[in-house]
Amino acid sequence: MNVVEIIRKKRNNNELHQEEIIYLINEFCNNNIPDYQMSAFLMSVYFQGMTTTERFNLTSAYINSGQKIDLSFLNGIKIDKHSTGGVGDKVSLILGPLVASCGLYIPMISGRGLGFTGGTLDKLESIPNFRTDLSIAEFKKILSTTGIAMMGQSAEIVPADKRIYALRDVTATVESLPLIVASIMSKKIAEGIDSLLLDIKYGNGAIMQEYSKAVELANALIEVGTRYDKKVIALITSMEQPLGNMIGNWLEVVESVLCLKGKQVPDLLEVTFRESAEMFLLAGKVNSISEGIDLCKKQIQNGSAYNKFLEMVKAQGGDVSMINDLSQYPKSKYTFPVTSLQGGFITSINTREVGIISNEAGAGRGNLTDVIDPKAGIILSKKVGEKVKKGEFIATLFTDKNNPQLATNLQKTFSIGAEKINLQPLIRAKVTISGVEELTIS
Ligand code: URA
Repeated sequence: MNVVEIIRKKRNNNELHQEEIIYLINEFCNNNIPDYQMSAFLMSVYFQGMTTTERFNLTSAYINSGQKIDLSFLNGIKIDKHSTGGVGDKVSLILGPLVASCGLYIPMISGRGLGFTGGTLDKLESIPNFRTDLSIAEFKKILSTTGIAMMGQSAEIVPADKRIYALRDVTATVESLPLIVASIMSKKIAEGIDSLLLDIKYGNGAIMQEYSKAVELANALIEVGTRYDKKVIALITSMEQPLGNMIGNWLEVVESVLCLKGKQVPDLLEVTFRESAEMFLLAGKVNSISEGIDLCKKQIQNGSAYNKFLEMVKAQGGDVSMINDLSQYPKSKYTFPVTSLQGGFITSINTREVGIISNEAGAGRGNLTDVIDPKAGIILSKKVGEKVKKGEFIATLFTDKNNPQLATNLQKTFSIGAEKINLQPLIRAKVTISGVEELTIS
């Protein structure tokens, strides 16, 4: 087989055979295909898309590039959650320990920052010494004793996604439905779950900006999951503004810890509780969403969710003392306050731009070898719908770069008007194998 011919075939919008997809993925993983050819292939897929069969074959090729984790030794339900990514989306850090504290197993294989969105692995690794590079044996051991383990793709587990994910991040090929499907579902099938809750973001801070595209993606993900005999459902949630107030790796750990200890961050907790409740329902742990939400509140109030987070951090080598005393963490060299240029109401925040600025401050990568600054990021003091006076603080930017322009750019992401606007519902729809249910209450 000839790799140039495979790229050309996709570039010309022809369907690839299963053998061609397997060849491409295997040879890339064996270092017989260079990054530049894989990048050209990814760009061809970005422009031409893939058929349902190609998508399934690509997902299978990713899975078979490594091992599948067998969790049948665990006597209980194995369930996970995965988001397509957003800005300030730290839900997994709260939801994982919260759901695990109720006795469900959470085997979570996550990703790093992708494009302008943050990644769970980078956030976790901002905790000093926290290891996400677990072997399969370590992952299973931690999961069986702690009920939750969070790791990244590795040489053992979906190595194809590990390498292609990093390439997509720096080649503008993130926003491709088939590439997202293969990336997400390969990790989820390989990790050994029974059921999966997907959070498909839409809006100006999401990979899929339009609602209809988010629904299309949800259906494509559910279809592959169902072919692998998994129970998969999806919530379509809004990413029209960052979730919560903190953006950046360590800052997102901080906000998650504060929520686990009882801080009320309404939008973040609305999504976290609803998704946790859907998982409880999927697992047969509760009979209704409201019962599931009550359970979430109870687990936060009685300290079980926070204790589970600490247990996980300890099991994965992380410095628990840093979590117990968040103020010990090193500080950024520069703190740039951002103020409002006028009085009125915040009518929108250009969320994608906020993610890009946070990455430029040091929270993300511009190329494969960039090293992340875990301290870098943004704290929003105001969100959409809030009243603001001229000159009032609306955000603070933290960075080791002496670049005040970043703060000026951040200021421009806020639009301010005279009228207070009504916020769109945060949780827009639920998608299952049977169809799409629009949710009127959020
Ligand atoms: N999450 C993933 O794991 N992969 C994607 O492509 C997008 C979100």
